Amino acid sequence: MPAIQSEALAAFVQDIFIAYGVPESKAETVAISLTLGNLKGHDSHGVIRVIEYVDWIAKGWIAPSAELEIVRETDSLLLVDGHFGFGQVIGREATALAIEKAKAGGVCVLSIRQSAHLGRIGEWAEMAAEEGLVCFSFTNTHGGGVLVAPYGGRERRLSANPLGAGAPLSNGEPLIMDFATSTIAEGKMKVARAKGESVPAGCFVNAQGEMATDPEEYYADPPGALLPFGGHKGYSLSLFADILAGALSGAGCSKGEARVANAMLAVFLDPKAFAGEAFFQQETEALVRRVKDCPTMSGVDEILVPGEPEAKTYAQRIQSGVTIEDSTWERLTRLAHERSVPIPEA
Ligand SMILES: NC(=O)c1ccc[n+]([C@@H]2O[C@H](COP(=O)([O-])OP(=O)(O)OC[C@H]3O[C@@H](n4cnc5c(N)ncnc54)[C@H](O)[C@@H]3O)[C@@H](O)[C@H]2O)c1
Repeated sequence: MPAIQSEALAAFVQDIFIAYGVPESKAETVAISLTLGNLKGHDSHGVIRVIEYVDWIAKGWIAPSAELEIVRETDSLLLVDGHFGFGQVIGREATALAIEKAKAGGVCVLSIRQSAHLGRIGEWAEMAAEEGLVCFSFTNTHGGGVLVAPYGGRERRLSANPLGAGAPLSNGEPLIMDFATSTIAEGKMKVARAKGESVPAGCFVNAQGEMATDPEEYYADPPGALLPFGGHKGYSLSLFADILAGALSGAGCSKGEARVANAMLAVFLDPKAFAGEAFFQQETEALVRRVKDCPTMSGVDEILVPGEPEAKTYAQRIQSGVTIEDSTWERLTRLAHERSVPIPEA
C-alpha cells in the first residue's frame, strides 16, 4: 500500500480534478477537504471519493463550476442553493456565511439544498468550533443514496443521514461528533469490500432479512440494507434528519432517486450570546475532565471524547503520510494516466 505525504496527495488530487474540467480554485478546495478526510482517519471520505466524483461530473450529478446562491436571508437564517456544485466548496462557503451571522447575532440556522456530496460532515463543525461556536447539524442525501432499512425492515428506504456537532474547548481540540445514522457509513462498506474484509455483525441485513458480514451480500442483486444504529433511536434520528434537512430546505426527503447529493440543516450558536463564554468553557472542560477521569471497563485503555480519535490520527498521519489501499491507488493512477496527470512518488 503506497504512503504519500498529504501535501503531495492533495496536489495530485487537485491536478486530477483540473484535468477533468474542475476550475482550479474549486479543485484545490475539494482536494484539501478529501485529503483532510484521510488525515483525520476517515478514509471512506478521503481521496477514494475522487473516483466517484469524476464519474458524477460525467453523469451531470456534480456541476463543477456552480456557485452558491443565497435564496433567503435574515439576521439569523440563511437558505442557500448550491446548484449541485461540489459539496466541499458549497459546504465551506455556506458555513463561513453562517459563522459570520452567528458571531454577529448569536445564532444562525443554515439550510442548504442542491449541494453535491458534502463529504465529511465533521469538517463544517470543525470550522465553527475554530471560531468559538457550538453547532449541530442534520443531513440527508437529497432524496437519493437510499441505503438503510427502517427499524425492523429489510429493504433500503432511508439514506445514511449523518449527524454532526461541534463545541470548542479552550484547553484543547474541539469536541466533534460526526457519524452516519446507519451502523456504519456506506463508505466503510466500500473500503471493506476493496480490502476483501468482512464488516462487524449487526451492520446490515442481506436481501433475505438475515444479519450478514460479507460486503458482497450487501452489494448483491437483490441488495442488502444497512441497519440504523441504536435500533429505534437511530432510526428516529434518521427520520428527523430527513425532515430537517430535506423537507425544510426544498431538497426533499429520502425517496430513492438515483442522484446522490446532500441537503443539510445546521444550527450555529455563539456561547457569548447565552450564559457567556467563561461559563461555557468552564462547564465543557469540567465535563470532559469528568468523563475522561472515569475508571475504564475491562479491555479499554482510555476514555476518549468525540473528535479525539480524529485528532490523534491527524497528528500521526501528518507526519507519516497517508496510506492508500492498492485497489484505490490503482484506480486513481488510472484516472491520472487517462488525462496525462503526473503521478507523485509514493
Ligand atoms: N455526506 C454524507 O452524506 C455522509 C453520509 C454518511 C457518513 N458521512 C461521513 O462519513 C464519516 C464516517 O461516518 P461513520 O458513521 O462511519 O463515523 P464513525 O462511526 O467512525 O464515528 C465517528 C464519530 O465517533 C467519534 N468516536 C469514535 N470513537 C470514539 C470513542 N471511542 N469515544 C468517543 N467518540 C468516538 C468520532 O470522534 C466521530 O465523532 C463521517 O465523516 C461522516 O460525516 C457522510
